[in-house]
Amino acid sequence: MLIIASHNGAIGIHQAMAALKGGGSALDAVETGTRLVEANPDEHSVGYNGYPNILGELELDASIMHGRTLDSGAVAAMRGFPYAISVARQVLERKLPHVLLAGEGAERFAREIGAEERDEMLTDAVRQAWSKGLAPTRLSERLLAQALPDLPEDAPLLGLVKLATDPERVAGTVNFIAIDSSGDIGSGVSTSGWAWKYPGRIGDSPIIGAGNYADNRYGACACTGMGEMAIRAGTARSVVLYLQMGMTLEAAAHTAMRDLRDLGGDYIGGMNLIALDRHGEHIGLSSEAGRKYIVQTGDMAQHAERQRGLVELPRRWGGAGRD
Ligand code: GLY
Repeated sequence: MLIIASHNGAIGIHQAMAALKGGGSALDAVETGTRLVEANPDEHSVGYNGYPNILGELELDASIMHGRTLDSGAVAAMRGFPYAISVARQVLERKLPHVLLAGEGAERFAREIGAEERDEMLTDAVRQAWSKGLAPTRLSERLLAQALPDLPEDAPLLGLVKLATDPERVAGTVNFIAIDSSGDIGSGVSTSGWAWKYPGRIGDSPIIGAGNYADNRYGACACTGMGEMAIRAGTARSVVLYLQMGMTLEAAAHTAMRDLRDLGGDYIGGMNLIALDRHGEHIGLSSEAGRKYIVQTGDMAQHAERQRGLVELPRRWGGAGRD
C-alpha cells in the first residue's frame, strides 16, 4: 500500500492511509484524502474557501480515475458543492455514459445524488483577497458597488481577466495517487483553479490525460500548476505513455516536463507533477526549486516529505501591447 500526494495533501494523507488499511480501495483513499483538503479553509486553491473567479464565484474542478478499468469521473466549473472529488467519483460510480460534467449540469447532478451543498463557499478574508486582487482592474469597486446579478451579462471581462490573473497564485490544486492492497491504482485531482479566472475557465484537473491519468499496467501521474499547459501537452497521459514505451519513471516524468518547454504562446507558467510506476517507485518534479511532495506506505506511521526534482521551464506572462 502506498500513497503519494502534493504537499498540501498532508492534512488528508493519514486518513487516506487509514482507509487503505481498513480494506478500502485506492479510490476510497484518494477521495478520503482529497475531501480533507477540500474542507480546509486555509487552503485557497482547493474546495471550500478557494480563490474565486473574477466575478467572485467559486468554481471547482476535480477528477478521479481507476487504474484497472480506466473508469473515470470528473466535474468542472461547479458551484455550491465543496466536495468536488466526491461528485466526480459519483460520475464514475453511477455508471453514467459520461466522464465529465460541467457547470449547471454538474450542479444538477450533484443535487440529484444528494451531494453536500453549501450556500456560502467563501470567508470574508478570501472575499477581501479577491477584492484586493482585482484592484488593478477597478472591477472590484464596480462589483462591490452593485449587486452581482446587476452586472450586465455583456460586461467586458476579457481585458480585465488579463490584468487580474495572478501567476503567483496559479500553482494550487491537490493530487493524490494510491495503490491499494489489491495492487489497483487510483488517482485524483481537485482544484478551484486560477484565482480571478474568467468564469467557466476549466483547467487540467478534470481533464483525463491532462492533469490526471492512471493505468495499472504502467503507472499514474497527476499535475498541479498552470493547467492550460498540461491540457495542451497532455502531460499526465504523456508520463504514462512514456512508461508504456519502456522508459524508466525518471525518464518518463522528465520527458513529459521537458515537452512543456516547446509550448508557444504568451502565457507560460509553472508546472509540477507527481508520478509512480506499477512497481511503486515514485517521483515528484517541479519547475520551481525547493518544492516537495509527500509519501506514506502501509508500514509508515506518518507521511514523509520528498524533494521534487527541478525541471526549469520558461515563464511568459502576456505580450506587450496586447489588448
Ligand atoms: N492545475 C490547476 C489549474 O490550472 O486549474
